[in-house]
Amino acid sequence: MRSSVIELTELVSKAIAVQEESFSPYSKFRVGAALQTDDDQIFTGCNIESSSYGLTICAERVALFKAISEGKRSFYRMVVVTDTEDFCPPCGACRQVLWDFAKTLEIILVNNNGKQKTHKIIDLYPEAFDGDFLSIRREL
Ligand code: THU
Repeated sequence: MRSSVIELTELVSKAIAVQEESFSPYSKFRVGAALQTDDDQIFTGCNIESSSYGLTICAERVALFKAISEGKRSFYRMVVVTDTEDFCPPCGACRQVLWDFAKTLEIILVNNNGKQKTHKIIDLYPEAFDGDFLSIRREL
């Protein structure tokens, strides 16, 4: 594990705070995420739902896209909080996008009792498709 000037508790607090902003009137399932960049900045995100359900975006991708749009390209870890007792791992779409941008990412799931469970993205999304395949095709 790498040393960090940011405590995990700070990431958890920020994920809980942004969870309050969740716009989830359809599912009523509130998610908050806090992403720590490799240069120790924090970007947060909540899920934002659309009445056209498929246009909904998860908390994880909101946090990641905010960071990408601010020029960040290198990420250390992400905390994901939900109101449930069961840990809520990222959905398949989020796993793909997190893998695209952060192949060593640690994902710390936090449940409604404050319990934590840590995964590496490689374990959540093994044998992934990614940009390497596209580079190979381009060279043919
Ligand atoms: N959701 C997330 O924000 N992150 C996840 O990892 C799983 C699902 C959101 C999407 C939707 O707003 C609601 O939770 C129910 O699927």
